[in-house]
Amino acid sequence: MEKKIKKEYGICNKPDLKLARKRMTKSTNILEYKVANELIGIGNGKTYIVKTYGCQGNLADSEKISGILEQLGFTKVETEEIADVVLFNTCAIRENAENRIYGELGRIKRIKKNRPDMIIGICGCMMQEENTIEYIQKKYPHVDLIFGTHNITDLPEYINYNLNNKKVIDVKSIEGDIFENVPVIRDHPYKAWVNIMYGCDEFCTYCIVPYTRGKERSRRPDDIIKEVQDLANAGYQEVTLLGQNVNAYGNDLKIDYTFADLLKDLNKINIPRIRFTTSHPRDFDDATIEAMALGGNIMPHLHLPVQSGNDEVLKRMNRKYTSADYIEKMTKLKEAVPGISITTDIIVAFPGETEEQFQDTIKLVKTIEFEGAFTFIYSPREGTPAAKYENPLTEEEKKQRLLTLNKVINAYTNKGHKRFENEIVEVLVDGYSKNNDNMLTGYTKHNMLVNFEGTKELVGKIVKVKVLKAYTWHLLGELI
Ligand code: SAH
Ligand code: SF4
Ligand code: F3S
Repeated sequence: MEKKIKKEYGICNKPDLKLARKRMTKSTNILEYKVANELIGIGNGKTYIVKTYGCQGNLADSEKISGILEQLGFTKVETEEIADVVLFNTCAIRENAENRIYGELGRIKRIKKNRPDMIIGICGCMMQEENTIEYIQKKYPHVDLIFGTHNITDLPEYINYNLNNKKVIDVKSIEGDIFENVPVIRDHPYKAWVNIMYGCDEFCTYCIVPYTRGKERSRRPDDIIKEVQDLANAGYQEVTLLGQNVNAYGNDLKIDYTFADLLKDLNKINIPRIRFTTSHPRDFDDATIEAMALGGNIMPHLHLPVQSGNDEVLKRMNRKYTSADYIEKMTKLKEAVPGISITTDIIVAFPGETEEQFQDTIKLVKTIEFEGAFTFIYSPREGTPAAKYENPLTEEEKKQRLLTLNKVINAYTNKGHKRFENEIVEVLVDGYSKNNDNMLTGYTKHNMLVNFEGTKELVGKIVKVKVLKAYTWHLLGELI
């Protein structure tokens, strides 16, 4: 009988999360990415797939992972069944995000049974958490590679170990340097993510991100401007600037240069659309409003997570603003950028949230008239301060709050769409609608989804569409 050989570890570095929690940071270097010559070609003739969960930050990381793997010689495939390397880029923001990953790891085990040479890797925010690695080692021994958010650029070395039948665990507790010129394979042919910074210094009491992504580190303005200019030259139509709190951009740079300065510089580049996510209400300032008022390629849409409309809850969330501050800033913004669309994130049933406090959130939604929102039931994250707070609500009560909130928001989403009925809007065409092969689909400047009849040569172009009818989730239009 064939003896089962237990694979050895090529690298086995588990994080010391006490260091991460203490915020033991080092100064950030900005380095050029370079792969060792002898590793180029190790993936020749082999295939890979990266499966991404979580936020745009993870989508952007996965594009770099793909870039690195293709530089090594690997070719992308569409299903795990035929991939030699399967990588899961994970998210830790809520419990259900994590449960999905464990489901996937269980499923892939059955595929690997028939193809034992397959390399299974898992990376991203979940790997930066306490106890996750031990759990995966114990429950999912078919995983060959575990790395975190701070060391994507070491992937060539890891894969080389894996190809030589060795396992790898390498998770760093302290954030890494910024690497420029990492190869990327972008998912979209004319819309691109551009990181402007990494990490988060906010420490909202419910949130795991500051622990999984490390301290705030900004890229140099010139590197960002060059990347956007190169994308414009390559025919990209839209760039979304990424950071957990883009309004803190530049705080850690040794030069006097802010997010508003960056927007003003990018406003001069000949790319049709610039978006950014995510903003933080405390740091969203007059200078940013002024930059947004320039218009041009800066889109009339702001996603500004408010989380709650009650000051006591906001305080316990450590958000450092009041609902009055939020309203004041949004009133100014609406004056400076008439017709701007504002969307948000809201958490319901934060520990201790009373019915009255929840009603303050509903009131705020009605005041701002958010045209869209991502709404969540609070999910305790181990190691965050709020996980220790009492939360007496039942699951049923929590769900009820979410339903009540969604109903109010949907009415404003619908109202927001209605204001475009009979108007002519500019749409960046994404492709065909999921449900209808004759229908093209794309987004307006205000980030609203439009479906209209058209042919495939319009994909990737910005076209004018007359809105015929507004629905809650999309606009229906006709090409003019
Ligand atoms: N940096 C961004 C995005 C953070 S994650 C920001 O500050 O807005 C996206 C959203 O997930 C958050 O805005 C918040 O609404 C939600 N979220 C974060 N942690 C959560 C938790 N523990 N439970 C429920 N929702 C959470
Ligand atoms: Fe999390 Fe708050 Fe940072 Fe957003 S700003 S990533 S919610 S800690
Ligand atoms: Fe999730 Fe990490 Fe983004 S926890 S939301 S993937 S920063």
